[in-house]
Amino acid sequence: MGATRRTLLTGAGAAAAGGLMGAHGSAAAEPAVPVVDPVALGPVTDIPVGGGKIYSTALVVVTQPVAGDFKAFTSICTHWGCQVAEVENDQIICRCHGSRFSAADGSVVLGPATLPLGPKAVTVKDGQITIG
Ligand code: FES
Repeated sequence: MGATRRTLLTGAGAAAAGGLMGAHGSAAAEPAVPVVDPVALGPVTDIPVGGGKIYSTALVVVTQPVAGDFKAFTSICTHWGCQVAEVENDQIICRCHGSRFSAADGSVVLGPATLPLGPKAVTVKDGQITIG
């Protein structure tokens, strides 16, 4: 059996209300910039002086160019976006095309990359490294 006039009107009202609620709901505030919580990486003893460690899940590389001085950078190479592969002799190395970056400041030591690795905030507390 077909819909009665009453059910059609009720349905139309509900649809209109839903539309209004949907419009209101879509105006809910969402952060314009993603909020990134601090991430605990591990003990400082994982980071050799003059070297570093790549945390592939966190997409970060932490270095210790001078004893007690920790630096962190994105581990995504600025050339074509590979994850850097290792840190040795104060350089962060991308094996995809051979770019090398300074472990002290992320600057390009050897191309083809032309832009530095972006810095990340790093803190050390109670012998543990945290970024973010
Ligand atoms: S993606 Fe790193 S050198 Fe090309």
